[in-house]
Amino acid sequence: MQLESIRSLIATDMQAVDALIRRRLESDVVLIRQIAEYIIGSGGKRLRPALVLLAAGAVGYRGLHHHELASVVEFIHTATLLHDDVVDESELRRGRRTANAEFGNAASVLVGDFLYSRAFQMMVGVQSMRVMEVLADATNTIAEGEVLQLLNAHNASISEEAYLDVVRRKTAKLFEAAAQLGAVLGGAENAVEQGLAAYGRHLGTAFQLIDDVLDYSGDATETGKNLGDDLNEGKPTLPLIRVIQIGSKADAAVVRHAIEEGGRDGFESVLAAIRHTDALAYAHASASEEARLACEAIGSLENSKYKQSLLELARFAVERTY
Ligand code: IPE
Ligand code: IPE
Ligand code: MG
Ligand code: MG
Repeated sequence: MQLESIRSLIATDMQAVDALIRRRLESDVVLIRQIAEYIIGSGGKRLRPALVLLAAGAVGYRGLHHHELASVVEFIHTATLLHDDVVDESELRRGRRTANAEFGNAASVLVGDFLYSRAFQMMVGVQSMRVMEVLADATNTIAEGEVLQLLNAHNASISEEAYLDVVRRKTAKLFEAAAQLGAVLGGAENAVEQGLAAYGRHLGTAFQLIDDVLDYSGDATETGKNLGDDLNEGKPTLPLIRVIQIGSKADAAVVRHAIEEGGRDGFESVLAAIRHTDALAYAHASASEEARLACEAIGSLENSKYKQSLLELARFAVERTY
């Protein structure tokens, strides 16, 4: 599959990153090691660290800080997942019970805090004010995105633009930071850095749009997550917004009601309403357009295997089933 071929270019680096991630998890507090190992050891696609490495490679970086920053980005991602699963009351992640289901909400939140702060300790070691700026801003924006999403929950009148605003903050921002960091490390000129940042932003947006599609149409054995988590939390994601916009009166009412009430009872009828419309195809097309914009943003980047992998990654983000 595509993701394997993308990863093969950076396989050795990714192994080094994985080893570094393990080393940096160390703490003399046993529960921290236990929970952090539990979620990190259960896999995950490691897309964000791959993005740091590919972007660094694409600008010809030859130093040693890319492994550290790739690990930092994965730690931040993992911290957001620990917190997100508490907020979303999710019970399955990476094919296993979530940390909150296994160890409780309090422990999950606190270990998420540990991972955030460990990430900040690690980035200080890189001794670059620009790197700190990019990561501090990204982390802050993600938090804003998650809070905005909380405010939008159970609101069936949310516009597509307001939904995209959340997506750009909660998800796209970290992809943006990952790609940008590769460029910053490599000392790329501003236009190249901005191009890679824009690539990451569009890629991350496409990625979340598909995540929201998979929450209705995926296969839990592939995604490693339960379907219907979004509806359970009353999240007005794009497939639902689309049904409300263009569906029949009856279907729109079903979806509105399900968003307002939350829970899982309405899942089957919402699925039917989605199927009566082009909602999934529409969200898919939006993701494709974002992926196209991502590729366009690195159009003038010098050609290399790394650039080709970045282009492939954009395709994976849209075609993925996991
Ligand atoms: C999950 O991200 C959270 C979203 C932004 C949708 P991933 O799908 O990259 O999660 P892992 O790391 O592969 O488990
Ligand atoms: C992405 O949103 C969460 C973060 C960016 C932290 P979701 O809530 O859709 O992610 P999953 O589906 O739980 O992985
Ligand atoms: Mg979630
Ligand atoms: Mg999701």
